[in-house]
Amino acid sequence: MLKFKIIIIILSFAPFVSAQKNTGERAKWFVNDRLGMFIHWGVYSSAEGVWKGEELRNNNQYAEWIQYRNRISKSEYLTLLDRFDWESIDPEKWVILAKESGMKYITLTAKHHDGFALWESQSSEYNIYNKSNKDRDIVKELADACKKHGLKIGLYYSHWIDWEDERSWDHTKEVYGIDYKNYDRYWQEKVIPQMTELLTNYGEISIIWFDMWIHHSRTIVSKQQLFQLKNLIRKLQPNCLINSRLGLSIEEDKDVDFRTLGDNQLGKEKYEYPWQTPATIAHSWGYNSRQDKWKSTSTILKSLIGNVSLNGNLMLNIGPRADGSLPYEALSRLNDLGNWLKKNGNSIYGSEAFDLRTNLHDWGTLTYKEINDNKHYIFLHVFNWPLKRLLKLTGISSIPKKIYSLSDTENKSLNFKHKSVLTEINLPKNPFDKYVSVIVLEYDKKPFAVKGLVAESGEGGYSLNLENYNYINGDGKINDAKKYGTIPKNILVQKKQILKWKIFISEPGEYRVDSSYSFQYDKDEGNIKFEINETKLKQKLKSTGKTVGEPLQDWVIDNYKSNKLGSFKINKAGIYEVTLTLEPYTDPVKWQWLWIKSKK
Ligand code: GLC
Repeated sequence: MLKFKIIIIILSFAPFVSAQKNTGERAKWFVNDRLGMFIHWGVYSSAEGVWKGEELRNNNQYAEWIQYRNRISKSEYLTLLDRFDWESIDPEKWVILAKESGMKYITLTAKHHDGFALWESQSSEYNIYNKSNKDRDIVKELADACKKHGLKIGLYYSHWIDWEDERSWDHTKEVYGIDYKNYDRYWQEKVIPQMTELLTNYGEISIIWFDMWIHHSRTIVSKQQLFQLKNLIRKLQPNCLINSRLGLSIEEDKDVDFRTLGDNQLGKEKYEYPWQTPATIAHSWGYNSRQDKWKSTSTILKSLIGNVSLNGNLMLNIGPRADGSLPYEALSRLNDLGNWLKKNGNSIYGSEAFDLRTNLHDWGTLTYKEINDNKHYIFLHVFNWPLKRLLKLTGISSIPKKIYSLSDTENKSLNFKHKSVLTEINLPKNPFDKYVSVIVLEYDKKPFAVKGLVAESGEGGYSLNLENYNYINGDGKINDAKKYGTIPKNILVQKKQILKWKIFISEPGEYRVDSSYSFQYDKDEGNIKFEINETKLKQKLKSTGKTVGEPLQDWVIDNYKSNKLGSFKINKAGIYEVTLTLEPYTDPVKWQWLWIKSKK
């Protein structure tokens, strides 16, 4: 017991990285399909997040955890089955709903942490077929319906935690001690046989979705047990995908099929291997009558598009009620999603990341698709329709053959101008779609990406900052935003710092330059120098003083002030490098951004 605790303490500092290097044949469909439905449904669904009048004891609202959180005994837990409306429960309805919503696969919680099997399990009588006395096998019903409607099926199986089997893992064992021998009995007598049933009796299973979100070394499961499980899946269904929450690290096993990020955690960078975000439509996974944090349709769409633009997938969860139904809030969002995908799905299915910086454009994000050698598409997802009705795409030097709205069945051409690395598209007054409009750019060769540029922002200027530089050299230390962002991200420079960016200037003319920083010395001193082309603008760092972060809270913070650096002239359109040099003397400077804008 003591030894176990020490292991936990040491290892809990090691980050859990589990992923895989290649896409692999097996995962090809998964990478192509991009969107699936997650269903959390089980005994807990009828509790609806409340037990004996008390709400779920955890702010995360995860209603499928009610048995553990509200300390419900096993025998009382099963009384929840009495509240089910068996006549109305029809998994085929979920399948039709998923299909209509544009989803290509469904992952059902075949056994969640409560240990209750949603199928007629021979290896544990703690299952729906026995305990409901209704002879229902929900896994079978769902698998048959998926087959009928052409969707793939995945099964969530809680291997690590099982609150029913006393030999298994339940977090209270961190207090009362654990018994590895007994755990192995649970493994050999419940996990392995149940997985064998699921992989033998229900036709093709496309995903086994595990849910151990920490590395096995931090808990009771052994590496050998995990390999035994993995090998069983590979043997029984060689095409079935396995997610990274199996619990092995990448050093131990490179052969896991896709990486699962944290709950509701969206992608931030492009990965070359398959990955997925499990996301909820509200906040709880299982049905919770008290939940009110529904994600908006645009939020869901942006999550999906954002992930696809980084080569990722989205598995959107619903929590049906104990009669199989879903609240209007969920249905209306799924309906909107489905309608959007019917018109715009081409930019999602089979599309992938393009070779440009993430968050390059402030109007939205883009995905890419290659049909064949002479058919290539760039899809622009416009989240924020430009007020001036001119959309600027920076970073592609190839000239598009044609540009049109993806939802327009006639593919009517939109007027555009192309100059060097900038494509400017004329838009009508109203967006093509009420959520996210998609604009298609057709090319007959793979469009050529010019990397490392900073795009012009919607208000018509260049924001050069600590997110988008190309070169950095000096003694500076980057500090993240603090105090709820009232203290912005900055670089603290004591001696000397150089930063560089690249911009494309399309209009020759005069431009002005501002820079924001905090300089806490009581007089102007040191240097800030800006260089572009032939121009050098140099001045002393200006004392910026203090400001109040939050009224009446004794919360005085540095003032990050915008300072005018001067202006420069450009005679010829082109790509220009911008260099900033900071040289404080006695006191350091905390620098934030440069802003370049045409004087017109
Ligand atoms: C967490 C929760 C679980 C949920 C899962 C979905 O691991 O424990 O209830 O099923 O996330 O990703």
